[in-house]
Amino acid sequence: MKIAVSGKGGVGKTLVAGILARMFAKDGFKVLAIDNDSAMNLSYTLGIDENTKDKIVPIKEMKSMIEERTFVKGAGPGVYNINPEVSDIPDKYKVSGPDGLQLLVLGGIEEPATGCLCPENALIRTLLYNLFVKRDEVVIVDFEAGIEHLGRGTAKGIDLMLVITEPSQKSLDLGKKIIELSKKLGVINIYLISNKITDDQQKDTINQKIKKWEVPLYHTIPFDPEIGKADLEGKSPVDFNSNSKGILSIKVLYEKLKKLKQELFDL
Ligand SMILES: Nc1ncnc2c1ncn2[C@@H]1O[C@H](COP(=O)(O)OP(=O)(O)O)[C@@H](O)[C@H]1O
Ligand SMILES: [Mg+2]
Repeated sequence: MKIAVSGKGGVGKTLVAGILARMFAKDGFKVLAIDNDSAMNLSYTLGIDENTKDKIVPIKEMKSMIEERTFVKGAGPGVYNINPEVSDIPDKYKVSGPDGLQLLVLGGIEEPATGCLCPENALIRTLLYNLFVKRDEVVIVDFEAGIEHLGRGTAKGIDLMLVITEPSQKSLDLGKKIIELSKKLGVINIYLISNKITDDQQKDTINQKIKKWEVPLYHTIPFDPEIGKADLEGKSPVDFNSNSKGILSIKVLYEKLKKLKQELFDL
């Protein structure tokens, strides 16, 4: 199952992607977490150890590898192969984390104002699209804030799009855009998740606002100060306090997704 996590900056994408990855891994699934955000901080939420973290080089920054893969012999400058060979990249460059999970740091896709399609973007897009997911594998992608950079091909491979929102009109607005775009790109399973909720009133208001969206509010995660404390320590919230209300709520979300996975793939 390929799960994508998206939403406005700061809503909790990395939190949800990272903690779900840990929970799937702990349960025995083969997990590949992919950091496709330019902030590249998924390794913290996953609880990757310092030594390993220091050694990570984001795929996007591997200039010579990208050049090699996208080079077209005899072609002039500015011409490159938009369908580079990528199948060996995950195995070659992923690092290991807790509970046997693996992390591949891509870096974000930036849409250059000039409209140029840079080789690194082509390589990352091809990678995201061609990731082959086996039966017991779970791939979780922590996306850039918007998803405008997603081509039809990239989105097609996504089985489940989790759109995260916080209790703010701004994040709901972007959530709506992401949902519309995801639908256009052919993603079928799209779920809205509200995060950092402090009371029932907020939940009710969000439910009111999304009445006509045709996408349910699938899950609600409470505001949890323990998550902020973990962040300050540079620790994974699940290692810092696995019984905090935020983590327990993500555990419930995890159980729902595990069931959904069975319904979608194992019957
Ligand atoms: N449920 C929550 N309760 C308290 N703080 C949270 C919660 N979810 C996220 N945060 C905090 O909000 C900030 C943004 O979260 P993050 O997962 O990095 O968002 P994103 O990846 O969408 O930018 C972080 O400092 C994180 O600790
Ligand atoms: Mg993030």
